[in-house]
Amino acid sequence: MSGGQRLLVRDLAQLVTAPPAAPAPLRGAALRELQVVENAFVLCEGGTVAAAGPMRDLAIDAEVEELDGSGLCAIPGLVDCHTHPAFLGDRVEEFALRAGGASYEELHAAGGGILSTVRATRDGADGELAAAVRRHADWMLRAGTTTFEGKSGYGLDRDTELASLEAVAAAGGVPTWLGAHAVPPEFGDADAYLDFALADVLPRASELAAAADVFVEEGAFSVPQARRYLTACREAGLALRLHGDQFNELGAVELAIELGARSIDHLEATGESGVRALAASDVAAVLLPASALFLDRPMPPARALADAGAAIVLATDFNPGSAFCESLPLVCALACTQLHLSPAEALVACTVNAAHVLGLAERRGRVAVGQDADLVLLDAPDWRYLTYHLGGDLISAVVRRGAVAWAR
Ligand code: NIG
Ligand code: FE
Repeated sequence: MSGGQRLLVRDLAQLVTAPPAAPAPLRGAALRELQVVENAFVLCEGGTVAAAGPMRDLAIDAEVEELDGSGLCAIPGLVDCHTHPAFLGDRVEEFALRAGGASYEELHAAGGGILSTVRATRDGADGELAAAVRRHADWMLRAGTTTFEGKSGYGLDRDTELASLEAVAAAGGVPTWLGAHAVPPEFGDADAYLDFALADVLPRASELAAAADVFVEEGAFSVPQARRYLTACREAGLALRLHGDQFNELGAVELAIELGARSIDHLEATGESGVRALAASDVAAVLLPASALFLDRPMPPARALADAGAAIVLATDFNPGSAFCESLPLVCALACTQLHLSPAEALVACTVNAAHVLGLAERRGRVAVGQDADLVLLDAPDWRYLTYHLGGDLISAVVRRGAVAWAR
């Protein structure tokens, strides 16, 4: 469908969205205040929402393509603000070893883990990485994701990092430079690697990416190293993200707040003072329950964060090692069963709040007049089946920028 054409989604059982005017990110009680319209329509025009509401308010004066929404519920297109889609190879062998008792950290320390994916990604032939990212983006779309962020971080050399960012952008994603994901083997230590990354990769990465990210963890980057990397990235104009408190609380929350980061992601090891500090800050708390489940690790303190007033967000963490899962509907189900969030909190966390982390909340994450027309049509009588039908085949169609991008 071309930009000027119109698409009418009509006779929907329910249309659900965060209120158009609520300031993003939503926190506290606002996380639970969704608008639910029964027997609804959405009119898309030129890629944005021209009108939406109850069928009785529908007024159509010209030719329009129609999509029958009978028996379906529409939610905003899902926003996955944390994925690692730029990789080649797989870690199925490591997965089998972990099933037999080996830990993720042991495999990482033995040169497996992230570094084994770095080897496979560097070894790819021309075009292979871009094709892999397109394939992963297509999996996400089928799972209802209409906006995705994609990190580099499996190249860790100049060419492969930049190719990763280009591949994410070419597949329609929002690129994040995860230049500090691990220390590659050709460098003796993390500081020597950062010298190279900041001098040789950052100048071009900052033109391609919207944000920078760092893995703060034992065996990866320390807080002082992360501060140095992120400060340089901020000066180059990038928004800041952190992987923090995944296994150990090293002070990543305090660093994120100090530097005014957009988000800190993981938080499985965050304690009470970290929860309080995040709740009092503008740093979003990105929760990745599929990763905790996949690694059989403790879940992050999501309920405490939400109750304390933090800006909570949900994402998949899609990657080959710690979360080979592209499904935000599955993440929403885990949010309710494992994180004790309500269906409304889960939906807000992976739509408007996730769009906020990407700096896109003005255009994405809600069904609102003037915003991008991104919708997921659920084959369900009640939108909360999104969280209730665990692993279910729920998605009937996905509308992206006013056009049907995927349909069953
Ligand atoms: O977010 N924790 C660091 N990075 C990824 C995992 C990457 C991998 O195992 O390949 C994560 O979980
Ligand atoms: Fe991650």
